[in-house]
Amino acid sequence: MKTKHAFLRLIPLTMVLAFLGPAAATAHDGKHETVKPAAATASMVGGAFTLTDQNGKAVTDKDFDGKYRLVYFGFTSCPDICPGDLRKMADALNIAGDKIAGRIAPIFITVDPQRDTPAVMKDYVAQFHPSITGLTGTDKQIAEAQAAYKVYASKAQDPKMNGYTVDHSAYMYLMGPKGEFIDIFSHDENAGQIAESLKKTVSAS
Ligand code: NI
Repeated sequence: MKTKHAFLRLIPLTMVLAFLGPAAATAHDGKHETVKPAAATASMVGGAFTLTDQNGKAVTDKDFDGKYRLVYFGFTSCPDICPGDLRKMADALNIAGDKIAGRIAPIFITVDPQRDTPAVMKDYVAQFHPSITGLTGTDKQIAEAQAAYKVYASKAQDPKMNGYTVDHSAYMYLMGPKGEFIDIFSHDENAGQIAESLKKTVSAS
């Protein structure tokens, strides 16, 4: 039994390493890592951050206390996956309805702080949903937020995209009113499925 337990405990660790490290590229679709991680890994998602919102105001994870949070990492120059996922985030909130959506803070955190200034973020998030908070920061602040959420992001040269693009993991995280992890949605899940999870979780509390 001892051996089995040790083995079982090794699995999540290995997955965490694969999730965080360059090996994640093997599960990458070229630009976005979209394979849903194991629940054991996902439950380690979350933590403190200090960032700047689209109005230039400093915010921390504590500013969202009391609200559920729907968190997505990406960047505004992303040609396909990010805008599609943010549209889906907005659709899920609309499907869930005002009563549920009013208790959720949708948050978009950039993995490209160099180009995604507060002003750029402000224009961008407004295209999707009025309640989305767009967060940027210094390279260090963004790196810390990425580490907390186990987000993989890596710059790659691309002359077509203003010099570079950013490969990154593309999951949506549902966090609780104290910032605790609740659920993770992969790119394959649609707005209706996400809305169902939001309704179930938020109505139950
Ligand atoms: Ni993207």
